[in-house]
Amino acid sequence: MSTSAALSLPADPHSYARPAEVSVRHLLLDLSVDFRSHTLAGIATWQLQHQGEATELWLDTRNLQIDAITAGNEHREEPTTWENGTPDAIRGQSLRIQLPVGASQVSIRYRTSPQAAALQWLNPEQTAGHQQPFLFTQSQAILARTWLPCQDSPGVRFTYEATVRVPAHMLALMSAENPQMRNALGEYHFRMAQPIPAYLMALAVGDLAFTPLSGRTGIYAEPVTLPAATSEFADLEKMVAAAEELYGPYQWERYDLLVLPPSFPFGGMENPRLTFVTPTILAGDRSLTSLVAHELAHSWSGNLVTNATWNDFWLNEGFTVYFERRIMEKLYGRPYADMLQVLGHTALLHTLEELGPASADTHLHLNLAGRDPDEGLNEIAYEKGDYLLLTLEHLIGREELDAFIKEYFTRHRFQSMDTASFIAYLRHELLDKHPGLEEELQLAAWVNAPGIPAIAPPVTSERFDRVEQSLQDWLGGTPSTLLPTQEWSSHEWVHFLHGLPDNLPAPRLAELDAAFQLTHSGNSEILAAWFPHTLAAGYQPADAALEAFLIRVGRRKFLVPLYKALLAASDGHERAQAVYTQARPNYHSVASGTLDALLGRS
Ligand code: BES
Ligand code: ZN
Repeated sequence: MSTSAALSLPADPHSYARPAEVSVRHLLLDLSVDFRSHTLAGIATWQLQHQGEATELWLDTRNLQIDAITAGNEHREEPTTWENGTPDAIRGQSLRIQLPVGASQVSIRYRTSPQAAALQWLNPEQTAGHQQPFLFTQSQAILARTWLPCQDSPGVRFTYEATVRVPAHMLALMSAENPQMRNALGEYHFRMAQPIPAYLMALAVGDLAFTPLSGRTGIYAEPVTLPAATSEFADLEKMVAAAEELYGPYQWERYDLLVLPPSFPFGGMENPRLTFVTPTILAGDRSLTSLVAHELAHSWSGNLVTNATWNDFWLNEGFTVYFERRIMEKLYGRPYADMLQVLGHTALLHTLEELGPASADTHLHLNLAGRDPDEGLNEIAYEKGDYLLLTLEHLIGREELDAFIKEYFTRHRFQSMDTASFIAYLRHELLDKHPGLEEELQLAAWVNAPGIPAIAPPVTSERFDRVEQSLQDWLGGTPSTLLPTQEWSSHEWVHFLHGLPDNLPAPRLAELDAAFQLTHSGNSEILAAWFPHTLAAGYQPADAALEAFLIRVGRRKFLVPLYKALLAASDGHERAQAVYTQARPNYHSVASGTLDALLGRS
């Protein structure tokens, strides 16, 4: 069994790179950030690792303007020639660079397009402080190539150093060793000493400040957001310690969070050393911090051991969801983690229903060739992946599973992993030691068949059982004010709202709203579970709050179901189009891309 997966990796259908011939190993990046023209411009110098006699370096690009390329060694470079391939709507363009004999590095002078899909440029009004503009990147899955010519394949890793020049009053941060204070020049230096794939390249620039939480953790946010963020994430160090207790030492030295403006299109992004998070988890009561546990867990599953291609995405996300819930259990106990497990399971059942019983997109191992990974990656990788590990836990016990997972991370750290290599490793290290276990687990059905194998254990939560009782009582006529909701966390509320029938009349919603102020909840998950009901019922007192939410928040996970619910409501089409027109300038391209299709704008 080979543990150096690099030699036997499957081809990446989403990259033009040919790392088997020559791969990048270190990046020297020098970039200037221009908020006026919405461009990044500078030089990327790639230091190379030859695997054979290659005379060309193939990189991925999309919408980049290439101005000049030189090649040579660290002492001397000469101009060289290059060729851009035909643009493809999904993969962008190959950049094929001639390498003179013995060339160990190439330097590319380039500029990004104002439309670069990874970048979102916000004007001051779109930030919390309203004073300065803001820029952030989102590189996963295949958007790094829109701001950096690179081998944009998760099977290729490199270390980097960067110099980033920004307007004098702003702070720049990367997925690297970061400054904690602004400097007068606006020039910042970064170093990432551990090798990472291109999708973990990240940059943010804004009116940002830092507060330490422990010796190795802290929070970056806009100054007006910092106090709330600092209190919301007070348990960050405990989370890192819990994660280390489970699966071994944290390998990236510092772990900081960056709280972004609300247009950030995801809940979180596991950029190494600096997780990016949405401000929609600032609920005021620490109720939505499992998202941080999730991104932290990626410091092992994903960032240390990385899916080889996007077809193997479940190896990143499935392990991470399992790990996330184990961290939450360590901090807040089993009944709490069980609620998260049931919420995830409900989402899984919903996705399975949406995709249908025969969909190949419900296999763990995906086939995304020819498709945009951004559209092909769904809940299955997360929750079916987690469920496979949960089933394994059920069959062999935690002790043995934990030892396996810890060793898996340790042995493959800073390497990539594809599904076939993982299965070979799992057999060799675990399944073969228990005769009959592979069949009992129904491993092949998890990986290469739709739906959920019958062996999967039931997923239950005592706290949710009580919520379901309350829901029955309410449906049976008990007034809202008599329900025992005083101790409910937002998870209980979300479960309650998910359980409501979808055809409730507006007066019933009014009765709930009067008792619990759901329309004015400060919790984004509660709002996202409530609005579909208000839309279906035509409960108008919630309309203004819904519109405000759609205009302020750019998190795709909330937007897609809410726009779908709005489209299905009476006068929904006109209302959805009107809100979208107003809201769209506030959305990142990964959100507007999905919504354009949903609203017929593409
Ligand atoms: N790595 C993902 C985000 C991602 C996946 C970006 C695929 C682009 C392509 C991140 O770790 C994630 O899963 N975020 C979730 C939150 C999590 C708690 C399920 C999100 O953003 O909703
Ligand atoms: Zn994730």
